[in-house]
Amino acid sequence: MTVDPNAATQGFPSPPPDHHRPSAARYLVPALVAAAVAVALGVYGKVHDPAGTAFNLAGFSSTGAVKSWLATVAIFFALVQFTSALMMYGKLPGPSWSSTLHRWSGRAAFLVAVPVAVHCLYALGYQTYETRVFWHSLLGCFFFGAFSAKMLLLRSERLPHWLLPIVGGLVFAALTIIWLTSALWFFRTFGVTT
Ligand code: HEM
Repeated sequence: MTVDPNAATQGFPSPPPDHHRPSAARYLVPALVAAAVAVALGVYGKVHDPAGTAFNLAGFSSTGAVKSWLATVAIFFALVQFTSALMMYGKLPGPSWSSTLHRWSGRAAFLVAVPVAVHCLYALGYQTYETRVFWHSLLGCFFFGAFSAKMLLLRSERLPHWLLPIVGGLVFAALTIIWLTSALWFFRTFGVTT
């Protein structure tokens, strides 16, 4: 006797595709990419010999000053990001162009932060000689991982409404602590100079 494997469902309409429950891959791929980016940066920062290379810009007294001011510009744009996100979610009154403001302030913050982080990674490396420096290095790597996850999640549809605010909040919190443990420390140690 042969058994028809579809016998149980024959005559019944097939269940509708479930559009409301995103598949695990929607979360897994961004999470894995985030971990891979963060770990790869950390391993690179740890294993290579920090070059210690310095650079300067006309009008600035040192590499640290250039980096601290660039990091401060990044934090400024990150604050615009945070405020425009609250507007987009209706938590603050805002203009119709708050999502454009959110997108462009994010691009600006990232563009300004990248050269600073490249110098940190290449010239200074992943360091742990002080609690402050440990957290700075760790969150510096975490930031780029979380940022990659956020960019990938933006491409996904039908995510739970709380996911993007959480991941965006983590990116913002990481950048804030990165700034507190580097630029703020620099300004308090050497004065607010250019
Ligand atoms: C968004 C990313 C980052 C920003 C905005 C940032 C910003 C800064 C700034 C402004 C300084 C102070 C200036 C200086 O000493 O050169 C600094 C120092 C430093 N950064 Fe970063 N950084 C980032 C990521 C990283 C990463 C990924 C690492 C390593 C894995 C790292 C490691 C260091 C180290 C070791 C120092 C010297 C700390 C000290 O002795 O004071 N940073 N960073």
